[in-house]
Amino acid sequence: MGVIDIYNTSSFFLIKPNNNINQFVIPQRPTCCSFGGNHIRVIAMNSTIPVLHELNEVQQRLTGDAFIRPHLRQLSPYQSILPFEVLSARLGRKPEDIIKLDANENPYGPPPEVFEALGSLKFPYIYPDPESRRLRAALAEDSGLESDHILVGCGADELIDLIMRCVLDPGDKILDCPPTFTMYEFDAAVNNALVLKVLRKPDFSLNVEQIAEVVSLEKPKIIFLTSPNNPDGSIINDGDLLKILELPILVVLDEAYIEFSGLESRMKWVKKHDNLIVLRTFSKIAGLAGLRVGYGAFPLSIIQYLWRAKQPYNVSVAAEVSACAALQNPTYLEMVKNVLSQERERLFKLLKDVPFLEPYPTFSNFILCEVTSGKDAKKLKEDLAQMGVMIRHYNNKELKGFVRVSVGKPEQTDALMACLKRLS
Ligand SMILES: Cc1ncc(COP(=O)(O)O)c(C=O)c1O
Repeated sequence: MGVIDIYNTSSFFLIKPNNNINQFVIPQRPTCCSFGGNHIRVIAMNSTIPVLHELNEVQQRLTGDAFIRPHLRQLSPYQSILPFEVLSARLGRKPEDIIKLDANENPYGPPPEVFEALGSLKFPYIYPDPESRRLRAALAEDSGLESDHILVGCGADELIDLIMRCVLDPGDKILDCPPTFTMYEFDAAVNNALVLKVLRKPDFSLNVEQIAEVVSLEKPKIIFLTSPNNPDGSIINDGDLLKILELPILVVLDEAYIEFSGLESRMKWVKKHDNLIVLRTFSKIAGLAGLRVGYGAFPLSIIQYLWRAKQPYNVSVAAEVSACAALQNPTYLEMVKNVLSQERERLFKLLKDVPFLEPYPTFSNFILCEVTSGKDAKKLKEDLAQMGVMIRHYNNKELKGFVRVSVGKPEQTDALMACLKRLS
């Protein structure tokens, strides 16, 4: 038994041995244990249960994950690729000596104007323009689509999530066509949406009939289409896209790799189709993956809501300046596209000659290969990593026996081929 004096409080908590927490509000009128003003005295009796034990149980009930939304507690962690500095440290090599062919980056990097612009940033201490006006004007000129249809994001990845946040209520459905870019599924899980899947055909083309059936039966709100598709590089033809646009569903067409296909972007189609969004990025052709700039073309009826929901400063000053600078040198971007397209043809032929690889035709800056002749795809990726060559392998069941190789510089192709020879 003891006495506790309490000052300056309107309520206090009593932890009882049965783990209930009782809150006592101090009455307005004086009681027998109140001394008036803001001083009260409480008589407390010692519990027979050790205090430590009681606290542990209370703490247990209040561990951090109790605060997390239930659907997020079910989420499996995003499987990101190993940063190349980590691999280089593990192998005891310089980062620039790692042959990085696992994330479809552009090994030539951005045009020199980007480095100049970054080196002479005048106002890094001022928040960026929330409407990225300079960049949107430059994009309008580049694409031929008015800037009111264009919104810029921290990578196309941010826009995928933003679209879902604006369109989906918890429990709504999206339609995914795997094998494809896995961020659609990931973001759907974060946004508490269900993912319906219509698998691609063996040649990776879309199963349009089945898509129409699932749309009519299950009423998903968004379908994500990728052209060229990651990981195989196949494209969607106009006929298939138009059939899907006829359906009562919002179509998000991801054109992250369109520049490598030699085909025109469908950005301007958003003026004719009120259910179409087209996404693009500076990460691939412009070599700005590390600066995070993507953009989308939207119908006016949709874009106004994205403006309302986006983070005001989602595109940094450095990102906007770099993207504008990259657009100032279309000759460089064209040159990079041509060099990488030529290297893609050479790499394809060389991979075809590897006895345990079957490469798929591609319209992008990467080549998907089936790993044959009893070789294990995961082990192949690990063996190459040990030699300082990074390629992509997948854990999902559709692509377990496949690897994806990004198109690099000719010397990177040569290094890859030398390592594959050692593994033959
Ligand atoms: C199909 C596809 N869309 C979008 C992205 C992401 O683009 P960003 O770097 O602009 O977020 C990628 C990146 O690999 C991709 O493969």
